[in-house]
Amino acid sequence: MKNIRVGLLGFGAMGKAHAYCIDNLKYFFSEIPFSATVGGICTTSYERSLSIAEQYGFGRAFADEDELIFSDDIDVIDICTPNAMHYETLKKAISAGKLIYCEKPLCLNYKEAAEIAKLASESGIICNIVFNNRHLAPIMRAKEIIEEGSLGRILSFSCEYLHNSALDTKRNAGWKQRRDVCGGGVLVDLGSHCIDLMYFLCGSFSSVYGESQIAFPERAGVDGSPWKTDADEAFYMLCNMENGAKGTITLSKITSGANDGLAFSIHGERGSISFSLMQPNYLRFYDGSEKTPELGGYCGYRDIECVGRYPAPAGAFPSPKAPSSWLRGHVQSMYDFLRSVYTSTPSAPSFDDAAHVQAVIDAAYLSDKENRAVKISEIEKSI
Ligand SMILES: NC(=O)c1ccc[n+]([C@@H]2O[C@H](COP(=O)([O-])OP(=O)(O)OC[C@H]3O[C@@H](n4cnc5c(N)ncnc54)[C@H](O)[C@@H]3O)[C@@H](O)[C@H]2O)c1
Repeated sequence: MKNIRVGLLGFGAMGKAHAYCIDNLKYFFSEIPFSATVGGICTTSYERSLSIAEQYGFGRAFADEDELIFSDDIDVIDICTPNAMHYETLKKAISAGKLIYCEKPLCLNYKEAAEIAKLASESGIICNIVFNNRHLAPIMRAKEIIEEGSLGRILSFSCEYLHNSALDTKRNAGWKQRRDVCGGGVLVDLGSHCIDLMYFLCGSFSSVYGESQIAFPERAGVDGSPWKTDADEAFYMLCNMENGAKGTITLSKITSGANDGLAFSIHGERGSISFSLMQPNYLRFYDGSEKTPELGGYCGYRDIECVGRYPAPAGAFPSPKAPSSWLRGHVQSMYDFLRSVYTSTPSAPSFDDAAHVQAVIDAAYLSDKENRAVKISEIEKSI
């Protein structure tokens, strides 16, 4: 497929980000053998879709997602709608034989996600769940360091994703604070990123214990009137991994002083790494195998300058020395998926990966409800 025509569903924050990535691949990658265009856009009304299509130069405008999904001139369905809509859209896109790029989380729960992962695998379509943080330069370097054995056996991790967005109770709630639309609260919205990162870097989860927190049960609702939230504002997890490692994950949208505070440390028997999204140019590495001279020598954590260093065919723009950004990870994620489409090879992270993340989320919610540790296998066997 030389020109890949993407049908975009939703044009909020992520619809815009994906369209930016598609439009700008040619600047970031040199001599790529394929091109991609937004061939169709579907939002909540035809008028809005048309105005977006005209403003951004997208192909056709749609008001009905079925028309977009079953269009012959669309190759890829790119899902950027609220979480509750993903499941039905995914089923239709798979039945239409379309290739799929879907924002996280895949669905509302493990049952839906496992069904979609099975359907996608049976149909053999190329599909990808957007866990964009995997595509940040320091995370790619972290994976390399772990795979080359520089940490040795991984013993523990701590991971957190902190926002301050829910501290203001007078600010209208959004759909991410509605359990029925989001599938949960912060555990789903931010937790899916942390669970995926620890899964990517440390391996599969075996069991979790979790506790939720709603500190402000009453706040302004979606329309501004007084409203009671049922979605967790913070969530705290203790995790056991299949390989014996243990870790903690802290998620919160009620953290004063936090902005986009995704951070983690991973500790192995021979060394450690740590990363903060607010300092995205660096991966911190500690080599525990170095002997410490009497006065300390050069021992201690070092900052690896990952900056904008991406593998070929990433070109000279922006310069590999240029500081990195959240958007650059999305560009890489989109490129990796479209390259898989062009070469007809499987894409990662897969819908099976997405289903594992969703099983961990379900296990954490069940743990919170029943006040006990829950094995991931219990969730997997329950469907
Ligand atoms: N990977 C990331 O960095 C990241 C960040 C934020 C959100 N997300 C995910 O992206 C998805 C979208 O989140 P967002 O923040 O862009 O939400 P948003 O509220 O900003 O945008 C949602 C869009 O979907 C549209 N929409 C709603 N119902 C629709 C329908 N029936 N048909 C077509 N369009 C419809 C809305 O008009 C809006 O344009 C969610 O799954 C979310 O979890 C991912």
